[in-house]
Amino acid sequence: MLKIKQSIAEKITEQIAAQFPGAEADAATLASMLEYPPDSSMGDLALPCFKLSKTLRRSPVQIAGALAESVKDEMVSRVENVNGYLNFYLNKEYLGDTLLRGIVEAGESYGSQTFGEGKTVVLDYSSPNVAKPFHIGHLGTTVIGHALKKLHEFVGYKCVGINYLGDWGTQFGKMIVAYRKWGVRAEVEAGGVDKLVELYVKFHSEAEANPALNDEARAEFHKLEQGDAENIELWKWFIEVSLVEYKKTYNLLGIEFDSYKGESFYTDKMPAQVQKLRDLGLLKIDDGASIVDLEKYGMPPCLILKRDGSTLYPTRDIAAAVYRKETYDFDKAIYVTSAAQCLHFQQWFKVVEMMGYEWAPALVHVPYGTVSINGEKLATRTGNVILLKDLFAMAIEKVGEIMEEKNPELKGRTDIAESVGVGAIVFYYLSNNRMKDINFVMEDALSFEGNTGPYVQYTYARACSILSKTGEPDKAQPMKLTAPEEEALIKTLARFPEKVLEAVRDYEPSVIARYILDVAAAFNRFYHECKIVSAEDAAVRNTRAMLTLAAKTVLGNAFGLICLKKEEKI
Ligand code: ARG
Repeated sequence: MLKIKQSIAEKITEQIAAQFPGAEADAATLASMLEYPPDSSMGDLALPCFKLSKTLRRSPVQIAGALAESVKDEMVSRVENVNGYLNFYLNKEYLGDTLLRGIVEAGESYGSQTFGEGKTVVLDYSSPNVAKPFHIGHLGTTVIGHALKKLHEFVGYKCVGINYLGDWGTQFGKMIVAYRKWGVRAEVEAGGVDKLVELYVKFHSEAEANPALNDEARAEFHKLEQGDAENIELWKWFIEVSLVEYKKTYNLLGIEFDSYKGESFYTDKMPAQVQKLRDLGLLKIDDGASIVDLEKYGMPPCLILKRDGSTLYPTRDIAAAVYRKETYDFDKAIYVTSAAQCLHFQQWFKVVEMMGYEWAPALVHVPYGTVSINGEKLATRTGNVILLKDLFAMAIEKVGEIMEEKNPELKGRTDIAESVGVGAIVFYYLSNNRMKDINFVMEDALSFEGNTGPYVQYTYARACSILSKTGEPDKAQPMKLTAPEEEALIKTLARFPEKVLEAVRDYEPSVIARYILDVAAAFNRFYHECKIVSAEDAAVRNTRAMLTLAAKTVLGNAFGLICLKKEEKI
């Protein structure tokens, strides 16, 4: 529809130039004014002419009247002037022979764009803290981050996905103390990150009764910072054990990172930035700590060094951003974290700007709301937080049970249950605006009916199954559209490129998830109203097979943008 909008907008611009001498109108603005009418009896696209009243100094009805006759082309069969709106009706041949065929011919690249070519985007996402639980609060950063990466790649950007592991800080002093006191190597090897978290939790409860443990932990962290060989070895091992676990979750989701450079990597890169702040006169000493005053900008100060001279979270982020700029020369650097960190990002983005880095405007924070499950943020079972892997395991198990009932004969059911269970969580989460606080009602998320992941994955499988019966459609045949559901489906499919643009513009993967629901609804309506495999007329049958293939293509491409797997059978 992007092309159609542009073409109509150009025609209107020409007409305005001819009929309203001296008036200014450009095609891009006009294209953005074109709307989708709420119902197809009012046309496929509409121009609300009141938006032009001011520039053209005529009433909307007069403007619509003046432009109505002239704006026709091979895409538009009819233009109506109704109460100051110009309603455009698309030509059937154009829908079938150009749009539909265009989708099928473009295949996997349908919806992709090129405006990002030659530019680089760095995305910082997931980034769990080692030896602390990888919990449901990380679902947002992990799946939104991954979707934003896929979306940017789809519009041509070169993308670098970075897992900025929380692999440095006093928690490692605590872990080292806890492990030496209560840990058993074989148990950690067998129990993985859960065992580490257990030790970490034990440290905290013991330290309440015995605060001297905290001093020990500080001392061990200090030794680690100084490069003590034994501590370094333990620290590396803790990270390794944690990564094994994280990677299982990433594999389930089909996520890969280009870099795992965590916080520790920036230890030796901070002093230069601290020095630069000092040289610029931006550092102030406040109660022994070094800060950057941000009062002028209505924010609390940004903390750079603690009283003991140790660095802080913002210090590391500043050093990491400088390093990434030097390494990747990004055009945009995106950070996906919970909204609880908004102030942190506003502060250090401002500091980067004050330091005179001209790329400061390229830093983008993408926040998201909180997650709870069945109304609970805290978990029941462990007395701890709900782990991401448990959430997925629960979904996979339940989906497995549902599938066993529905389709006991299905081959490869375990793998499919895994893909549908994970998809259910991801889809439920991503079908909401990212800033919304989300409560998972597990039963709703996993249902095969309603606007869920299983429903849309099932719709994809349905398209595959139809195509296995019709066989490959013949693209060279002229298309023959005979039912309104067919036209409605093509028009829905034609909106994919715009949806991609909108999702990229707003850093909002939910645009894609909700669009998938529109496609599934339009396809299922078509499927229920129109005979496909058993259509008598050969041209009609071929056209319907093309429609099915086009729907499968769009669903598949959209799934790829939001971590949903394409299953041909469910
Ligand atoms: N590790 C942090 C956390 O779990 C998130 C890191 C986000 N990225 C960043 N560059 N600050 O809260």
